[in-house]
Amino acid sequence: MILATAVSVAVSTLFSPAATAIRSEPLPELTESQEAEFREGFAAFRDMTFPNEGLGPVYNAQQCYNCHSNPLGGLSARKRAIVTRFGRNDAGVFDPLTHLGGPLLQSKSLSKECRETVPAEANVVAQRVPTSMMGGGLIEAIPDQQIIDRAIAQQLENPAMAGRVHVVTSVSDGLPHVGRFGWKAQWALIPDAVADAMLNELGMTNALFPSENAPNGDPDLLAQCDTVPEIEDTDDFLGRFTHLVRYLAPPPPRRARQEENPRVVQGKALFHAIGCAFCHSNGYTTESTIPALDGKSIPLYSDLLLHDIGTGDGIVQGDAQGNEFRTPPLSIDTKSPYLHDGRARNMDDAVDAHRGQALAIRDAYFALSKAERKTIRKFLKFK
Ligand code: HEC
Ligand code: HEC
Repeated sequence: MILATAVSVAVSTLFSPAATAIRSEPLPELTESQEAEFREGFAAFRDMTFPNEGLGPVYNAQQCYNCHSNPLGGLSARKRAIVTRFGRNDAGVFDPLTHLGGPLLQSKSLSKECRETVPAEANVVAQRVPTSMMGGGLIEAIPDQQIIDRAIAQQLENPAMAGRVHVVTSVSDGLPHVGRFGWKAQWALIPDAVADAMLNELGMTNALFPSENAPNGDPDLLAQCDTVPEIEDTDDFLGRFTHLVRYLAPPPPRRARQEENPRVVQGKALFHAIGCAFCHSNGYTTESTIPALDGKSIPLYSDLLLHDIGTGDGIVQGDAQGNEFRTPPLSIDTKSPYLHDGRARNMDDAVDAHRGQALAIRDAYFALSKAERKTIRKFLKFK
């Protein structure tokens, strides 16, 4: 990949959306060299990857930015950012159909004959919208024990609503950690998520995923279509993207002055009173040897635990079952559509979809007056 020469240019001039939009900024308190690493990662994130640099043979996009552009590193409401997962459920046993190119569909290919399709064997097919990586370094720096303690506290408070910790084995260090990134909390460490995206979204093999995806699992097609059989990440894009995510600031509070707005204050009180904050909770504090990432509390509005709220997609990832999702952080307010597959067009639709463990809370929300519900939405928008 060719690195933009604008590496030293201020981030705000590299990406300048409408004046009111949230911008991607580095964390405050970074050292000079950390900030330089952030800017390098920022530029790489927008770079196009070409076939001679490792794109494909099957892939979903030519740049990370395609699916995380609102703002850079955040979400994207664009249709092309939605990816497809598949697998097979046989009498309750889930098979990710790895031998047929699963579990993620790559919808594009370098040549027609290598194009992937959802195999006929798949009887579970699900869509996923991107999650935001803003504040990723802070989320990574939440100690496992705090998330475990929250799950224990939920068990004591209300076992029927309690969430589960998703313990995952990291591909970076081979050790078990508490997962926290992705719709099923399937990643614990940033390089794990980044390396996975490099291979499965761009088709770029790297130190953590050295084997190329064969189109629909077919090794003959792979031999035919793979332009670069060696490990493709020769310029440490794994490291650059990891720096970007790790040093990316969380979305800033929307409008500080709104904090005093009586309707925002009322919305916040109602959000807590009816029980949304049981799962969409705050209170984690980071611990890190990097000062910019140490001792920070972020208003995540997520326990980072797995819950069954009746929106299950049937996809099993690690220990996360088909009916479970991680409570998504509500730290971004521009997002629409909502939920893992983007099925909800607005917040009322998203809350309406909450059943299962969240049914009583959902009912409490819709028992409020229209004006009261509006205050909750206003609070979430301006928090
Ligand atoms: C085709 C769309 C697409 C492209 C291209 C893409 N992503 Fe993603 N990204 C997603 C989706 C969808 C998810 C949510 C995955 C899930 O949990 O199922 C995601 C999640 C992530 C997350 C986890 C964020 C969190 O906090 O949960 C990280 C980190 C990430 N992507 C990094 C990258 C990087 C780095 C690249 C480029 C190498 C990239 N992505 C390219 C669609 C994309
Ligand atoms: C039992 C735990 C739980 C409770 C209680 C709960 N939620 Fe959720 N919430 C979740 C989970 C899990 C998801 C993700 C589901 C999915 O994507 O399929 C979610 C998703 C959402 C989303 C969509 C976020 C996104 O990024 O797409 C919004 C908005 C939301 N919840 C608001 C609320 C509000 C408002 C309340 C209170 C009325 C509430 N939730 C109560 C667990 C909960």
